[in-house]
Amino acid sequence: MLEDFKVVTPLVKLASFTDNDAYIKLEGSNLFGSAKDRCAIYVLTKLLEQGTIGPDTEIVESSSGNMGVALAAVGARMGLKITIMIDESISKLNEFLITSFGARTVKITQADENGSYLKARLQMVRDYIAGRDDVYWFNQYGNPLVIEAYRETVGRELCRQLPDVEYVFVAISSGGTIAGISQALKEHNAAIQVVAVDLEGSKIFDPCTKAVKHLTGIGSSVRSENVERAVFDDRIVIDEASSLQALRDLLGREQLFLGGSTGCVAAGARKYMKDHGLAGRKIAMVSHDRGDRYYNNLYSKYFS
Ligand SMILES: Cc1ncc(COP(=O)(O)O)c(C=O)c1O
Repeated sequence: MLEDFKVVTPLVKLASFTDNDAYIKLEGSNLFGSAKDRCAIYVLTKLLEQGTIGPDTEIVESSSGNMGVALAAVGARMGLKITIMIDESISKLNEFLITSFGARTVKITQADENGSYLKARLQMVRDYIAGRDDVYWFNQYGNPLVIEAYRETVGRELCRQLPDVEYVFVAISSGGTIAGISQALKEHNAAIQVVAVDLEGSKIFDPCTKAVKHLTGIGSSVRSENVERAVFDDRIVIDEASSLQALRDLLGREQLFLGGSTGCVAAGARKYMKDHGLAGRKIAMVSHDRGDRYYNNLYSKYFS
């Protein structure tokens, strides 16, 4: 149904990583702008094929970011009814895209004790779906189909594009992307090392952290079921200043205008390879999205 929207994203060599043979997979080249397109297309197609959802089912998800945009776009293309639980921290652009694509939104205005809206958004979804059988909760935080989606799409694709890769670095938040990609890589070659990259201030690996994070997309205030299911070999936590410096390098030295989480992944990959004395190895990074969606709240703020 959505064959025209299934693209192979580019894998680009990074000349500025002089100590390693380094590549970056540009998931922002998906047609609706992020890795989440893969997930929305794969999972909704599968659910319709299985008969789990039908044309009248309402699909609900909690997201103020790429998942909301991807579901709104893909759902509209499939003629599905989409409701996205957003919060008041959402960027104007993401809200514009989600509503323009035709999804309904419900906005949360009360943050929790961590200043995050995630728990409130998830509770809102639980209340919304309670006792209803005409609603399906997409649930990127706990749906195993989400992991399958990344395994069968971007994961398999990366194995084909770089069969002899040795280290792969992936941002972690709800955990689906790294869980799926690592499954594909390990099936291809169990020796490939997959490293999760998180941002300082995230509670995934440090539930007691007091650091405040500003970059969006990466990290989380809760550790999800899909993070528990994800199998990776190691992890590295990067601060925001290093992430911003890496974004600046990608922009100025590689002419790549990428989203905030990619800065964190690039900084993480560089530091990890240096700290572990792994010069000369072949590495890949996954970039979730492009910089366009972050111009107003990141690039124009920190890069002027
Ligand atoms: C820009 C960006 N980077 C990284 C991630 C992390 O992916 P996941 O939630 O699958 O762990 C996301 C997820 O929303 C994202 O939007």
